[in-house]
Amino acid sequence: MILVTGGAGFIGSNFVLDWLANADEPLLNLDALTYAGNLENLATVDGDSRHIFIKGDIGDFALVSALLAEHQPRAIVNFAAESHVDRSIHGPEDFIQTNIVGTFRLLEAVRAHWQKLPNETPRPEGERGRGEGVSKQSFRFLHVSTDEVYGSLSASDPAFSETNRYEPNSPYSASKAASDHLVRAYHHTYGLPVLTTNCSNNYGPYHFPEKLIPLVIHNALAGKPLPIYGDGQQVRDWLYVKDHCSAIRRVLEAGRLGETYNVGGWNEKPNLDVVHTLCSILDELQPRADGKPYKEQITYVTDRPGHDRRYAIDASKIERELGWKPAETFETGIHKTVQWYLDNQAWVANVTSGVYQNWVGKQYSV
Ligand code: NAD
Ligand code: TYD
Repeated sequence: MILVTGGAGFIGSNFVLDWLANADEPLLNLDALTYAGNLENLATVDGDSRHIFIKGDIGDFALVSALLAEHQPRAIVNFAAESHVDRSIHGPEDFIQTNIVGTFRLLEAVRAHWQKLPNETPRPEGERGRGEGVSKQSFRFLHVSTDEVYGSLSASDPAFSETNRYEPNSPYSASKAASDHLVRAYHHTYGLPVLTTNCSNNYGPYHFPEKLIPLVIHNALAGKPLPIYGDGQQVRDWLYVKDHCSAIRRVLEAGRLGETYNVGGWNEKPNLDVVHTLCSILDELQPRADGKPYKEQITYVTDRPGHDRRYAIDASKIERELGWKPAETFETGIHKTVQWYLDNQAWVANVTSGVYQNWVGKQYSV
């Protein structure tokens, strides 16, 4: 049994679906179901007895402690977070609460549980019963983080490596940096067996349409403006979400304790290029009724305050040490993604009703 937090969000739900498709091991999914959490993402595993869903907060020490005692997971993968930079600029409070205080309380519950685990070497796989075989040494806490903790690169800087200094610039990245430091400290101070991954921008199915790629697909099809912040020349390094999931599985399996692993797809793209690519794919797969190109909907808007200019990930450590490689190129991944959104318009309609309406269109003023 593993415990996944935030498993109803974008990356977490992709991870849960992949896990259940690839392993027989059951999975406990703890998610607070904020605006970003959506059980519809998990509809295909509804009724699967290997998936146990619990609605709750990672910051609820009593709940987490009870879940750990009852289910005795061998590992925890912590996805739960507030994840949207623009929201963190409009209101940082939730980011501090979940990403910093929530991670801290989760770590406290995990530490108390882990300290009670036996020291013995686990018995061979076939001889274990439920919960048996989890020892202090075999237990893992994997913290899922972002490359945004490293700050912003200039055009000539080398890509972020694991030894880069932390220089977070947004309330989101500062809160993730704080959580990474707490995870690190729990390893150095208490010996908690932790692993941290710092990944570049993900894209793919179940991505909430507040983030650039799903927002552009959604707005294009709805005939709405495609908002480009500033000059659109900011660079992001894109990774298909399933490749992030396979990297996390690999780090969980073979990562060295206390280490951090950068995860990325070697796919640096200026935002404007990404938006042009999305428009061209849509022109091909679902042309506009008036026959005009979707790129006519591109609209330049006020830039995000403190907007990081460039992110780029050097993923050579995870490739060299753990033999991980992404399966998708940007071209294959982005085609799959656009096709998924075209095939899942009901999902998009559901997540864009309600709370979404209060957010989208909220742009920066000069
Ligand atoms: P998301 O916003 O789509 O999902 C977050 C999930 O966490 C939601 O299901 C939400 O309900 C849940 N959650 C929020 N607060 C919670 C709390 N207090 N207790 C329990 N559950 C809570 O985020 P995502 O894009 O799937 O990102 C997942 C993780 O990966 C985050 O830690 C994020 O920092 C990290 N990450 C994201 C990206 C990216 O491109 N999206 C890249 C690198 C790292
Ligand atoms: P986003 O998807 O919010 O991810 P992040 O800020 O974590 O990188 O944004 C990706 C890039 O796209 C970022 O440089 C901001 C830019 N962007 C726009 O130009 N317009 C938009 O409407 C959004 C949401 C983002």
